[in-house]
Amino acid sequence: DKVPLLFQPFQVKDLTLPNRVVVAPMGQFSSQDGFFTDYHLVHLGSFATHGAGLILAEATAVVPEGRISPADTGLWDDKQIPGLKRIADFVHAQGSKLGIQLAHAGRKASVKAHYEELPESAYWKDNVVAPSGGAEFQWGQSHHIPRELSIEEIEETIKAFGTAAARAAKAGLDTVEIHGAHGYLIHQFLSPVSNHRTDRYGGSLENRAQFLLEVIRAVRENFPAEKPILLRVSATDFVEHLDQPSWDIAQTVQIAKWVKEAGVDVFHVSAGGNTAKQRIKAFPGYQVPFAERVKREVPGLVVVAVGIITEGKQAEEVLEKEKADLIAVGRGFLRHPNFVINAAQALNVKAKFSQQYEHGRI
Ligand code: FNR
Repeated sequence: DKVPLLFQPFQVKDLTLPNRVVVAPMGQFSSQDGFFTDYHLVHLGSFATHGAGLILAEATAVVPEGRISPADTGLWDDKQIPGLKRIADFVHAQGSKLGIQLAHAGRKASVKAHYEELPESAYWKDNVVAPSGGAEFQWGQSHHIPRELSIEEIEETIKAFGTAAARAAKAGLDTVEIHGAHGYLIHQFLSPVSNHRTDRYGGSLENRAQFLLEVIRAVRENFPAEKPILLRVSATDFVEHLDQPSWDIAQTVQIAKWVKEAGVDVFHVSAGGNTAKQRIKAFPGYQVPFAERVKREVPGLVVVAVGIITEGKQAEEVLEKEKADLIAVGRGFLRHPNFVINAAQALNVKAKFSQQYEHGRI
């Protein structure tokens, strides 16, 4: 019998994943001053004890003002390395792999996305930055009016992505994922909805992609060459109902070719998040066609599909039909941390789990 694709190992560069199931990055708003805590060890560690192939730790800010909320994790300080290394060591001991998503929230920063009431001083509403500033570029009522980034600040931010990648390498991580999706800073540069700059970072698609390409180069220079890097993007702004320039799948395919040349190994295809005017029809596998289109049009780029993939058979079908190479699951893992175990049962395969679970003959 053939082993289902979902349970076959997958190699990209020197990284070999034990299976093709990825835990999607999910912000937990449970950090203090950007530090990873016991909460993160248990939360991420449990996906490893339950056999996930690759676990992507949540959107982690490369500078303090790039956090979505005061409770986001960060990698802007060397002191933040040991807490992350502890998680990586645990995940590795279970046979899983760990990556982290490097992020800057841009105009979606400094909001209350966590659980405690915090004093005003915990926020930085006057230092919320974006490609284009002013009231016109405020994301929504719960967000702040952003200030336009200067060229110098753009250069510093690019450097911060590189330094954070170096810290992730020091923590022993297997990969890093650049967060270019969901309306955060990189997506804000890419989309004409949020980028009205007239310098080299705005205007044409080449210019709007310039920030992303420079971030990729900074990350690539600071992360071991034999380890892959991932990029997560939104394939569309979901504003086809509006008569205005926006981000779409055609531009996504174009930049997929450029980022591959710039050193991205794995392309993770999500969608939406850049404007409150978006209209999204979500249904099982609704983002898979975007992943499929990139996979078809950019040969050699490893593609991850994500979005309401909740069953092993559903995931296996995406791989069998060659619509993607890897499957990411978010909420499915929150509901059922044993997603991989359930998928193995549904696909009738003896999957390999930690020795503790093997001992229990699950
Ligand atoms: C998310 N998502 C997300 N995406 C991302 O790129 N970085 C992040 O930090 C987060 N944070 C986050 C928190 C929580 C609680 C949820 C539910 C989601 C989006 C997530 O990675 C995934 O793309 C979506 O949830 C869609 O996949 P599922 O959940 O349908 O499998």
